[in-house]
Amino acid sequence: MRTQVAIIGAGPSGLLLAQLLHKAGIDNVILERQSGDYVLGRIRAGILEQGTVDLLHEAGVGRHVAADGIVHHRIELAFAGVRHPIDVHGLTGGKVVTAYGQTEMTRDLMTARAAEGRLTVYQAGNVSLHDFDGNQPRVRYDKDGQSHEIVCDFIAGCDGFHGVSRASVPQGAVTEYEKIYPFGWLGVLADTPPVSPHAVVYGNSERGFSLCSMRSLARSRYYVQVPLDDKVENWSDQRFWDELRRRLDAELAQRIVTGPSIEKSIAPLRSFVAEPMRFGRLFLAGDAAHIVPPTGAKGLNLAASDVKYLSTSLIEHYQDHSDAGLDTYSQRTLRRVWKAARFSWWLTSLMHRFPDTAGFGQRVQEAELDYLVHSNALSTSLAENYVGLPFELH
Ligand code: APR
Ligand code: PHB
Repeated sequence: MRTQVAIIGAGPSGLLLAQLLHKAGIDNVILERQSGDYVLGRIRAGILEQGTVDLLHEAGVGRHVAADGIVHHRIELAFAGVRHPIDVHGLTGGKVVTAYGQTEMTRDLMTARAAEGRLTVYQAGNVSLHDFDGNQPRVRYDKDGQSHEIVCDFIAGCDGFHGVSRASVPQGAVTEYEKIYPFGWLGVLADTPPVSPHAVVYGNSERGFSLCSMRSLARSRYYVQVPLDDKVENWSDQRFWDELRRRLDAELAQRIVTGPSIEKSIAPLRSFVAEPMRFGRLFLAGDAAHIVPPTGAKGLNLAASDVKYLSTSLIEHYQDHSDAGLDTYSQRTLRRVWKAARFSWWLTSLMHRFPDTAGFGQRVQEAELDYLVHSNALSTSLAENYVGLPFELH
């Protein structure tokens, strides 16, 4: 088989790239290790920057996010028993974010691709990447007991943190930067009305971090910080709701509507960046190249901005016969990636309780929170990063 761009991974990065390329008349095939249902079963992020929503429209799949996404004009920071609104809309000259689940976004993209009859090979086994240092890369995979080969112009590695793409690059060609945080997030999804439907609440209490978020007006998403070695089996629904309430102010705790969890999991927090993001004709995008801790909701949005840079560069290659965009893809993308890595690290440091930071470190954190909510300068910095920094397309 021959195609122009072979895309590894049918997460948000791979599906969005495929759709944008398809719209521009560029042929592509997606190879995904899992089944479509498995991909849709993963509960992940839920806050979209305007740039991400715009991209969904550009990809022709904006109808549902426009109808069902819930626009947020502010966030709330809760500490010392008080909630402080940060007017993200006012501080950024009118920018907003939209609450809409990654699962729903993935489904919209999958449905559009299927309706257009484009090929996604699900349950593709043993995917391997070849000759991406030359002009004619190849990708091999197994499906239903048979081996297949795709010859292509470019490979897009959109296969997440544990994917094969980054692992196929010769050791020494890639530099990895990593920071592991000494805690995880226990998350619960429940079909109950969210306690704060118009603003995500980020809470820092002496019992640890908490987050009140949502997927819709009928589906809520909550998190509490837990030790790294904690197990989800230790957390009955009742224990989770009790702990969440204890970390919230009395008014919010009293209003929260509890119910049976429909998903419950623990995710460790990690920052990771691989440099560069281009190796000959292999380009990495999304979690394949970088992971951010979820504080600030940058992971999915960063995946989308990588895809914007990559799709624009590939379209320039085919339509304008210019490789200028491809040649600078890695540098431009990494500038934005590192700023999101910085922001996610900063908000994580500000909002969590660190086991090894009692005394001085704790007091400095409290001073910074107090400074933040009273300083237009620092609130503006938070707001402009939260809504998403601008794209640098050239
Ligand atoms: N062969 C084929 N597919 C693979 C392989 C492989 N060897 N390894 C992984 N995959 C698939 C995974 O099964 C997954 O469906 O690649 C996909 C990668 O998807 P994600 O991990 O979701 O990564 P990405 O598309 O970059 O999305 C960005 O934003 O909210 C954050 O981390 C969150 O998922 C999220 C991400
Ligand atoms: C979520 O809704 O899952 C969510 C929201 C905001 C975050 C992280 C996660 O910062």
